Amino acid sequence: MAWIDKFLDFFKRSEKATPQKDSKAIAKQLAMGKMYARDRVNYLLDDDTFQETDLFVEHTGKDFGLDKKYLPADGVITGTGTMSGYPIGIFAQDFTVAGGSLGLMHARKITKIMDLAIKNGMPLIGINDSGGARIQEGVNSLAGYGEIFYRNTLASGVIPQISVILGPCAGGAVYSPALTDFVFVVDKISKMFITGPEVIKTVLGEEITMEDLGGARVQTEITGNAHFFAESEVECFEQIKELMSYIPWNNQKKAEPSTPKLPKPVFDVEKVIPAEPTTPYDIRNIIKSIFDDSKFLEIQEGWAANIVIGFARLNGDTVGVVGNQPLVLAGVLDVDSSDKAARFIRYCDAFNIPLITFVDLPGYLPGVDQEHAGVIRHGAKLLYSYSEASVPKLTVILRKAYGGGYIAMCSRHLGADFVFAWPSAEIAVMGPEGAANIIFKAEISASEDPDATRKEKVKEYTEKFANPYVAARNGHIDAVINPNETRKYLIHSLKVSGSKQEAKPFRKHGVPPF
Ligand code: HXC
Repeated sequence: MAWIDKFLDFFKRSEKATPQKDSKAIAKQLAMGKMYARDRVNYLLDDDTFQETDLFVEHTGKDFGLDKKYLPADGVITGTGTMSGYPIGIFAQDFTVAGGSLGLMHARKITKIMDLAIKNGMPLIGINDSGGARIQEGVNSLAGYGEIFYRNTLASGVIPQISVILGPCAGGAVYSPALTDFVFVVDKISKMFITGPEVIKTVLGEEITMEDLGGARVQTEITGNAHFFAESEVECFEQIKELMSYIPWNNQKKAEPSTPKLPKPVFDVEKVIPAEPTTPYDIRNIIKSIFDDSKFLEIQEGWAANIVIGFARLNGDTVGVVGNQPLVLAGVLDVDSSDKAARFIRYCDAFNIPLITFVDLPGYLPGVDQEHAGVIRHGAKLLYSYSEASVPKLTVILRKAYGGGYIAMCSRHLGADFVFAWPSAEIAVMGPEGAANIIFKAEISASEDPDATRKEKVKEYTEKFANPYVAARNGHIDAVINPNETRKYLIHSLKVSGSKQEAKPFRKHGVPPF
């Protein structure tokens, strides 16, 4: 073949492997409010930086007519590019090709990029838009999933893994996102489920829509499977870029520092603390009063809202923030909030992000529901992850720190490097009411005026224990501080613990309660 013919042949093959914008399938995709897979990749990456791999890979399916079908790029676009100048690995399933279904070669394209990302310490972004295992390829599709899950696990704690659900993510396919660090969903577009509505109807006789079964709201508000919710794909991509600006590129690096900025004056800490010690307040306002530019990238905002987690910057450096939320269930710990915080703490620890914890909680949520849902097992995850974390750990006790909650929220006893308390802190085994009712039970019931005696005993207990000074006297906290000086104390503590090193006994790995 002449040189020019070889080139013409190359262009013809490339065109065949890249479905054209005027195709019916792409028009259908766009009509659903979805972007085309290639446009998604290009939107996320820096301009003109996408370098595609495996465009000419073909499926190996032989059954049910697949042998006669050409599937462009085998339904998945893979390659590398840069985001804000940093290299990343990326794949995007193309729903316009056999519903983005995953066969063996489709999976191998993905695992090749995963291997490259792991070897080179690059974050991996996976855009999922697929009907799941390619039914015609049978067990080979399942093998493909297995090979992806294996690498998701290998990559965990080594490189950031981000999953974007932009269409169906059906059947076993959901387990790859579930193994990754952050899952992004878009309203009306994302659908995640193990067994779809058809199967549910057949097996259980129940009718449910895909949206109600596993839509974006369900995944961000009920299940906690997804971390970020967006109204549109463009908003979702901007959220991903924002997240990437906070986190380090791999576990050997620290997050890129930014220019330090003061919090905005509107979030003056004096103004955001309620005057009354029992009044609920929004912990996010306290967070915004302390960190740079009053910015806080909240994660899993709609789920287990009694705890707040997310990234902020302190004097330019990324920190992971965990705080009880007095606005929701008084900020108690329960099954979901323990899970939510525990996983975030492990993420921060794996990627060298210091942890700052704000404490204001009456303890663990009491009740049969919680006990039977395994609050012991789930609550233990929080203790485990704080104890295990070796990044700098700074804690500020704002108000209530009662019982197990005091210990679990990164107390000195779980290895916090610095623990500060505001003068409003109450550090005790339980709240004054409950404590007085138990320890002065006999005196109260023998009294001529039990109510008056109870009040007196509550007051006595409050004066003795509901303050930070008993803990300060015993060295359990380092200082009682003026709330106005919280930022200053945290900046100094972070500086001091910047080179923290902790020797731990040898082990292959721990056995956390999950
Ligand atoms: C092969 C598939 C497919 C699949 C969709 N397609 N899913 N091909 N294997 N799993 C094809 C369709 O045949 C169709 O091809 C095209 O993709 C578009 O699909 P439609 O059904 O027309 O689209 P839509 O109406 O939008 O519905 C999308 C859908 C539906 C909800 C995803 O297709 C669906 O329910 N698919 C099956 C989902 C599922 O149950 N997957 C689980 C598989 S088992 P044509 O040629 O007509 O354009 C699994 C286990 C893995 O994943 C376990 C790992 C541990």
